[in-house]
Amino acid sequence: MEDFVTFKSFDSDKIESQIERGMETLIEKAVEPIVPKALPKEIELTLNARLGDEYTAYYFYRNAANWCKGVNFPKAAAFFEKEAAGELEHAQAIQDYLTQWNLYPDIPAVETGRAFLGLVDLINQAYELEWNLLQKYSDDQKEIFRDHPATFNFIQGYVDIQVGEVAEYSDYLNALQLIDTRSKLDILMFEDKYFG
Ligand code: FEO
Repeated sequence: MEDFVTFKSFDSDKIESQIERGMETLIEKAVEPIVPKALPKEIELTLNARLGDEYTAYYFYRNAANWCKGVNFPKAAAFFEKEAAGELEHAQAIQDYLTQWNLYPDIPAVETGRAFLGLVDLINQAYELEWNLLQKYSDDQKEIFRDHPATFNFIQGYVDIQVGEVAEYSDYLNALQLIDTRSKLDILMFEDKYFG
């Protein structure tokens, strides 16, 4: 049966010591830092994989700029230099997001080499790279949108970037349909007009 505190049974010392113990517990809790939350493991793995894709894109455009310099397409070289710098920023932002969520980025080893048979081949490869990355980020959104809306929103930024990249290379491919891509002069004029 439950004890009732009556005037007779009221024990002020006991109550005081209970209050003291309660205060001690509160003080202990107040100096105990909360361990902040991290992203779910699957999202961490996905973002690390995309980090590898962004570095792959960086090396792709570095090779593209080097190739363009080597064959003397200076305007295209300057364009691909900027593309490479942009990819580094994309990679950086993923790493910042991971560290913001208390995780250490696990930078994957990626393919660093790339060969090109000409400017058309280079643009074809760039289009495929950007298109494939758009598919990956879009698939990631489908996987994530219920479980982690914050990361869904983060990835939305990358989908937007990819849509812009795909549109840009689509424009180049459409422009290439208008010229004789077997003519060196046409390719020179293309480079001058579209990368100038
Ligand atoms: Fe960062 Fe061009 O993908």
